[in-house]
Amino acid sequence: MFFLVRLQLYNDCIWLKSSKYCPYTDYGLTQGGDKMKTALITGITGQDGSYLAEYLLAKGYFVHGIKRKASLFNTQRIDHIYQSPYDTDKRFKLHYGDLTDSLSLVRLIQEIQPDEIYNLAAQSHVAVSFEMPEYSSDVNALGPLRILEAIRFLGLQEKTRFLQASTSELFGKVQEVPQNEKTPFYPRSPYAVAKQYAYWITINYREAYGMFACNSILFNHESPRRGETFVTRKISMALCQIALGLEKCLYLGNMNALRDWGHAKDYVIMQWRMLQLDEPEDLVIASGEQHSVREFVSLAAAELGIQLDFKGQGVDEYAVVADISGNLAPQIKPGDVIVRVDPKYFRPTEVETLLGDASLARQKLDWKAEHSLNNLVSEMMRSDYDIAQKKLLLQSH
Ligand code: NAP
Ligand code: GDD
Repeated sequence: MFFLVRLQLYNDCIWLKSSKYCPYTDYGLTQGGDKMKTALITGITGQDGSYLAEYLLAKGYFVHGIKRKASLFNTQRIDHIYQSPYDTDKRFKLHYGDLTDSLSLVRLIQEIQPDEIYNLAAQSHVAVSFEMPEYSSDVNALGPLRILEAIRFLGLQEKTRFLQASTSELFGKVQEVPQNEKTPFYPRSPYAVAKQYAYWITINYREAYGMFACNSILFNHESPRRGETFVTRKISMALCQIALGLEKCLYLGNMNALRDWGHAKDYVIMQWRMLQLDEPEDLVIASGEQHSVREFVSLAAAELGIQLDFKGQGVDEYAVVADISGNLAPQIKPGDVIVRVDPKYFRPTEVETLLGDASLARQKLDWKAEHSLNNLVSEMMRSDYDIAQKKLLLQSH
């Protein structure tokens, strides 16, 4: 394992040596004399943080990340880019900290003096925010305030650019379709209300103190690294396990919900580009396509050669296997019911529909997403099928 990590880093270095920036230099400077940029990522252990860290390392940045203290390792998504503290030419460093702890944030920002801060950390699960509204607000609303205030307090407002991971959840009970930068907000959860505070405090610090601070208004984006309780990953994991006989049925909440799903890899690139603009702007990042949760289930099942029929309504809705082709789902047969509704997954207030209009971002950032929904679903299903096969192997030994 250690050897593999080293090999991966070695390959990165060779690649990087031929690019503009080179890691084999003193901290802060590239070989050509260009300043090596330093980024601080909060939420580096999360889905987006891990992709952004990879992207910035490939661009020649020195990347610092804040991770939380946990009783078990919480760095699985970034283990492949980890560098030993004993590496002399390292460009990746993790620090303990927490968005609820101002002192740790001030100390780290003072020590690192970052050129760019990406605030990706959040209690990011909308349903959980109804269970933990105070904590979700502390992290998601006051967390970004603490970072902005640290930048100001340390006199770094000229040097440090700040990006806040904002969200399409601000549009909530949507006031127009599709949603763009001018669409009024109507948040529908403690998560979204807290993120609305974060959105406005970012703009306030920009206007009050002339800081380069901006919001990326991100519509849903997924990947094989998506947290396991978000709906797309829950679906991809469960269907693969059902196909191999490790589970019997997938229980979901509101299958009518409509979302604009993109790939996380595309969206972190946009966030980097936003911090390279001449002037800070708040931009919507979205695919411009909308699908229901039910459609996502059908697409995912089709990757395993399973065709589903949805029957019934509301809490009595279920999906039955209509047909199977290929050999990826040996443990199920036509007639099996493999998806049902469990009302415990309904939310007190739901965001029924989201559809983004990212034309401004496409124009300002010269952007085109590389991944389609079909690519995304295939990639997630391949990855979760591998995981399910390994689990099956372990169980049979
Ligand atoms: P994620 O996978 O849930 O990652 C969240 C990250 O925040 C994790 O690294 C987590 O650490 C960290 N974190 C949580 N509470 C923290 C605290 N108190 N102090 C420090 N770190 C803390 O989320 P994601 O999908 O990558 O999303 C990244 C950001 O984009 C979030 O702010 C989210 O709200 C926002 N966003 C996401 C989407 C989307 O569709 N993915 C859309 C719009 C906006 P642990 O690993 O220790 O839990
Ligand atoms: N999680 C979950 N689990 N959602 C379900 C389920 C289920 O079993 N069944 C149906 N859903 C519905 C939810 O009610 C919601 O309407 C939709 O599927 C998507 O749910 P999530 O995947 O949990 O994502 P989200 O849209 O609530 O929030 C995500 O996207 C936001 C951007 O719009 C998160 O990443 C947020 O952090 C992000 O801001």
